[in-house]
Parts: sequence; structure tokens; C-alpha cells
Amino acid sequence: MKEFIQSLPKVELHLHLEGTLEPELMFDLARRNNVDIPFNSVAEVRKAYNFHNLQSFLDIYFKGTDVLIEEQDFFDLTWHYLLRCQKDNVQHTEVFFDPQAHTQRGIDFDTVVNGIHRALLKGTSELGITSKLIMCFLRHLDEASAFATLAQAQPHKDKIVGIGLDSTEIGHPAAKFERVFAQARDQGFLTVAHAGEEGPADNIREALELLKINRIDHGVRCAEDEVLVAQLASSRTPLTVCPLSNIKLKVFDQMEQHNIVELLRKGLCVTINSDDPAYFGGYMVDNFMAVHNAHPMTKLEIAQFTFNAIEASFISASQKQRLNSLTNNYLAAHQ
Ligand code: ADE
Ligand code: ZN
Repeated sequence: MKEFIQSLPKVELHLHLEGTLEPELMFDLARRNNVDIPFNSVAEVRKAYNFHNLQSFLDIYFKGTDVLIEEQDFFDLTWHYLLRCQKDNVQHTEVFFDPQAHTQRGIDFDTVVNGIHRALLKGTSELGITSKLIMCFLRHLDEASAFATLAQAQPHKDKIVGIGLDSTEIGHPAAKFERVFAQARDQGFLTVAHAGEEGPADNIREALELLKINRIDHGVRCAEDEVLVAQLASSRTPLTVCPLSNIKLKVFDQMEQHNIVELLRKGLCVTINSDDPAYFGGYMVDNFMAVHNAHPMTKLEIAQFTFNAIEASFISASQKQRLNSLTNNYLAAHQ
């Protein structure tokens, strides 16, 4: 099944660009920018990537961003990720970035967006990979900071299609961001939010009701609420699930306990994504393989993750049609 998964057309909908910072690039950028990092070797960095929950990961993830300073750094980060997409046959990707992680360190919003955008354009023209950019508010910061960030995004509305909400889920309810999400929606931004990763099923309900989001990032703890599962199935509300991330951050102890295939078989619009692949040990193919190894699936079931991601994506109807045909043709040729 490895070859089938490798060449299957894929769509990624949950990927933090800052989470694609591989240790090798971290060292290169630290040297280039004269930034001190608390590691002496790539091996030492990888050894530090042992997390016991979301917060222990976030602490290291935010520290890693210290090496990102110039527009070229954001370009390089994004370009490296797009080259990995090419290797995994990711045809379309909708990527997150955390502007506040950079503006709080004195980096201009424009520097960040322009570097990322330039790489995304090159990805489309040179690799044929289409993309959308989503900016996330950090939920551990306050509403005022989110509003200020939304204001900074105004000159970049041609580059940013949506807003999201990430970082520490527990103790930072969606309600804190109800007004900023309402304003963003009025301004034409699409909306997503992390919910039901570490927090309970109620956080998913709250994000849907208060933030009126187009899709839920993670959402795997919906399984604790049967009524919610039934609602998510009938509404086809997308869940952007990140299997390897969920194991690394101990949302599930082992992949055998992960519920993604069960949710797929219940008719939910679940998708497979890599979240922060440099930290969690795998990109898209690795995530598909890890799920299949623990929960053997038919080729049609595996391809259904791509069909779901196409359905859940923010691309036009004609782009969806093109990707659906590509995937249908691939499936027909590999039965
Ligand atoms: N930021 C980057 N990865 C994240 C995750 N898995 N959950 C919440 N915030 C994040
Ligand atoms: Zn995430």
C-alpha cells in the first residue's frame, strides 16, 4: 500500500509553517542571523522533541521561531515545505502561520507575509502546487492582540484567505475570540479553529456556535459526545485530523487507539494532515502510512481522505472538480 499512498494525489489542510522548521534549517538560519540556539547538534535537537502534552511542544515550537528574522527566512521555510509536498504528491495545501509569534519579537507583519507569499507563488509556478494562506491568532494572548493582528492583515487581504485559532486550548475558550472572528467574517475572511485536541467535545460545539467556523482543526475528542458525532456526520463539517501529532502530544497513547478511521466509517468529513511535521516525525505520506498500518483500509477508504480534503478545501468549484477527477482517475488505474 506504500506505493499507492505515495502517489495518491493529496490535499493538506492543517499545517503550521513554523512547524516545518527542520533542525538542519534551524541551524542554517541561526548561523545566518547570528542567533543563539540552546542546542549543539541536529541530534540534540531531535532528542529534545519528546513531548508529554501540547504545552511542552508549544514551548519548544515558539523558541524555534527565534531564528526566523528576514523575509528570506520565511521564504526559505515555506519553500522547504513545498519541496516536501512535491515529494509526497501534495497537490494543494492550505497553510497556517502565527503572525503574533513573530510580531511579538519585533518582526514586521509584512516581512513574514511577503516571504511566505513569495514562496507560495513560486510553488504554484514551478511545482504546480496550489495553496491558500491562513493566519492564526494565538489563543493564549488576549483579544486586543488578535484585533491588532487582524488590522495588520488588512493590506494583505489578497494573500490571506482565512483566519484560525491555535496554541493552548485549555484555559483559553473560543468565547474570548467571538468578536474578533465576527469582524474577520464581516471582512470576508474564512474561518477555522483548533478545538477538541486537548480540550473536551464541548470546545468543538463552542467553536462552531460562537466562532461559526468553516472547519475544525483536530476535533478528535468529538467522539466523547455521540450526538455531536452524528451532527458532524450529517452536516459534513470537516475535521482536519493530524494523526502523528496526536500520538506525539499524547491525545491518544497509540495509533491503534486513534479514532480517525472509525470517524471516516461513520461518514464524517475527516482528513489527514501533518500539523507540525518537523516536530512530530512525519509529513503527509508518513501520516497516511501510520494510520493504515494501525487500521488497515481499502484503497477507496484511503482515497476518501483526499476526496474529503478536496470537499473541505477553500478552492473554487472548478479546482475541486479538477482534483476530484485526478483522484478518481488515479483510483481507477490502481484498483
Ligand atoms: N500550534 C502549532 N501546532 C499546534 C497544535 N497541534 N495545537 C495547537 N496549536 C498549535
Ligand atoms: Zn495545529
